[in-house]
Amino acid sequence: MDPYLLGLRLEGRRVVVVGGGAVASRRVPALLDAGAEVLLVSPKVAASLEDLAAAGRIRWEARGYRPGDCAGAWLVCACTDDPAVNSAVAAAAEQQRTWYVRADDAGASAAWTPASGQAADVRVAVLSVDPKSGDPRHSAGLRDAILDGLRSGALSARHGRKHPAGVAIIGGGPGDPGLITVRGRQLLAEADVVLTDRLAPRSLLDELRDDVEIIDAGKIPYGRAMAQEHINAALVSHAQAGRFVARLKGGDPFVFGRGAEEVLACLRAGIPVTVVPGVTSAVGVPASAWVPVTHRGVAQEFHVVSVHVAPGDERSTVNWELLGGSSGTLVLLMAVERIGAVADELLRYGRSPDTPVSVIADGTLPTQRTINSTLEQVESRIAEEGIRPPAIVVVGNVVNVAAEITELMRHVTALRTG
Ligand SMILES: C[S@@+](CC[C@H](N)C(=O)[O-])C[C@H]1O[C@@H](n2cnc3c(N)ncnc32)[C@H](O)[C@@H]1O
Repeated sequence: MDPYLLGLRLEGRRVVVVGGGAVASRRVPALLDAGAEVLLVSPKVAASLEDLAAAGRIRWEARGYRPGDCAGAWLVCACTDDPAVNSAVAAAAEQQRTWYVRADDAGASAAWTPASGQAADVRVAVLSVDPKSGDPRHSAGLRDAILDGLRSGALSARHGRKHPAGVAIIGGGPGDPGLITVRGRQLLAEADVVLTDRLAPRSLLDELRDDVEIIDAGKIPYGRAMAQEHINAALVSHAQAGRFVARLKGGDPFVFGRGAEEVLACLRAGIPVTVVPGVTSAVGVPASAWVPVTHRGVAQEFHVVSVHVAPGDERSTVNWELLGGSSGTLVLLMAVERIGAVADELLRYGRSPDTPVSVIADGTLPTQRTINSTLEQVESRIAEEGIRPPAIVVVGNVVNVAAEITELMRHVTALRTG
């Protein structure tokens, strides 16, 4: 029988994912984008999933599957690498009449995951009539061709283009998948191998063909990370093996992103490399909270500072005296944990205690949060509100412009909605 296609509206509905490897890493971000409440059951999970659990975006039970785990689920994804476990999960779902997808056996699945993707407000899903015997690359290729055509305005198949060589270091923007550049997205779609970072727009990974190898180089603060030299070595070795490698990074690759180290490593190994600039979180995240980093008559300079080490730390090369004495906007990255020391230093060198400060966490993502405070109080406000990285801290009077814009927005919206 032919499958019956539906668009599942998962907002607020429980989806149980059993298994925490590569397949789950692809499926979970897409499920979250659809608003699902994801329960992940697996003794071990990939770094990206661990990160989602730490951020409270999914619930992770760090153990093996147990009978009863599928209770209350609207959809179940069995994605372990153990067919016996997948089979038990499927049987439990079948018994309770819940739709289930088995990653290892299309023939034993109640539902199939189509090759899907989004262009503007159109969601495209392509499903082979018989995924048991059909080539999944066919559906993915067709999906890509449709998406490319929709995005560029011309329906030209991806496979018809010349295959690029070497490595593309791609700035993915601050997190919203819509903020990657067109070139970045095109090169990502051409890749045979993708090395991705924690802060890269991960929901784009779900659009990749099933045969694309995804390597998670996610760096969790104080947690697991793939060492930079291993990342460089992986870029080089995959490219030397004739694969086209996309290195998908958050923001812009050359802004506190170690992108130039990767470029140098590739070139030293004789690998052709290209860089696609990205929207840096230093500017894009404030903009997403209506904070302009410059504004006529308010700030004619802005300083972007990495606070991965605190002021006073012997590794710090930042001139805090200069920043404290300036009236320009300060955009602080990686500052959440060290904000108290930063505020003390800026106050010591002349900034006023009531200087406005905005802290924007998870900028451009559905979980974005903004808190407004002053230099004197920002440390305690961050603690009270439980703000966690990634976050951008903006210091300066431009924060007041955001307040003005927000107020006017409210009026305009109220007028339009009557
Ligand atoms: C290692 S830096 C990478 C910056 C990146 N290359 C860029 O251009 O945005 C990581 C820091 O960027 C900031 N950041 C990145 N994405 C963010 C987001 N979506 N929301 C808030 N801050 C973000 C945070 O300060 C985070 O700790």
